[in-house]
Amino acid sequence: MNAAFKDAAHLFRLAAVFVVGALVFVGVRAALVPKSFGQYGHYRANALADIAARPVNFASHQACEDCHSDIVEKKKSGKHVHVNCEACHGALANHVNDPGSVQPAKLDSAVLCVRCHEANIAKPQAFPQVVSAEHSGGAACNTCHQPHSPAMDIAETTGGTK
Ligand code: HEC
Ligand code: HEC
Ligand code: HEC
Ligand code: HEC
Repeated sequence: MNAAFKDAAHLFRLAAVFVVGALVFVGVRAALVPKSFGQYGHYRANALADIAARPVNFASHQACEDCHSDIVEKKKSGKHVHVNCEACHGALANHVNDPGSVQPAKLDSAVLCVRCHEANIAKPQAFPQVVSAEHSGGAACNTCHQPHSPAMDIAETTGGTK
């Protein structure tokens, strides 16, 4: 045999390994990649239908207005006018669909209010915030503030310290 091709068998074996590797890759890829992948872009197109099929949990401010107009009116007069009902009361689509049997959970203002109003250096200075331990002295926030119209005249209370 020509000396130049004496060890050519090694090259063929190496090439064979690559060919088999490529075939395995193509086979496994075909088995694992979902059918609808790439139909619209670099994602599984059927994911859209999966997401659309999930139940809607939030009902929107509009939905609450139809039945709780008294609270909507009250809220309009106060600083919480732009805070969505469900930002405090949580997702309530179930209640809207069947208000008779699904009652919203009672809120604990000691937990709720500080979620937005606890003083924090990272918040914009103009946002009203308090150091709750000093501000309320342990009393629940709604002993002094009306949740739906929270600002109040300092003359109305004796205990409040800013
Ligand atoms: C189809 C009418 C309807 C819609 C829409 C509706 N509610 Fe109600 N809601 C009711 C009724 C009826 C009650 C029970 C009233 C009662 O017991 O005084 C209730 C009770 C509540 C309560 C508890 C009241 C309590 O005394 O503890 C809260 C909180 C509440 N709704 C919030 C909401 C919010 C927030 C929305 C919008 C996401 C909403 N509701 C949408 C009819 C409705
Ligand atoms: C800033 C937070 C907050 C927002 C925003 C808010 N609520 Fe409330 N709401 C409360 C708290 C706190 C209570 C008193 C505790 C409880 O009853 O769960 C309450 C009580 C209620 C009650 C019971 C009856 C009453 O007068 O106490 C109803 C009904 C209600 N809210 C409906 C609404 C609706 C409708 C909206 C939107 C238009 C809304 N809430 C927006 C915090 C909020
Ligand atoms: C989801 C966030 C959020 C929650 C929860 C929340 N607030 Fe507010 N609050 C706001 C926003 C937004 C404003 C309006 C800020 C502005 O006008 O710059 C506001 C304004 C206020 C103000 C008016 C301050 C002023 O300048 O007169 C008071 C008081 C207040 N909230 C008390 C409460 C109390 C009490 C609770 C609990 C029942 C509560 N807030 C729960 C977001 C929240
Ligand atoms: C003992 C009564 C009392 C209690 C309890 C109370 N506050 Fe106040 N709060 C006041 C008074 C009085 C003011 C000053 C008048 C105003 O700005 O509305 C005030 C003002 C505020 C302000 C506006 C601060 C600013 O810089 O404009 C926020 C926010 C607030 N309170 C949140 C809360 C939160 C959250 C709780 C519960 C942890 C709470 N308050 C409990 C009486 C009270």
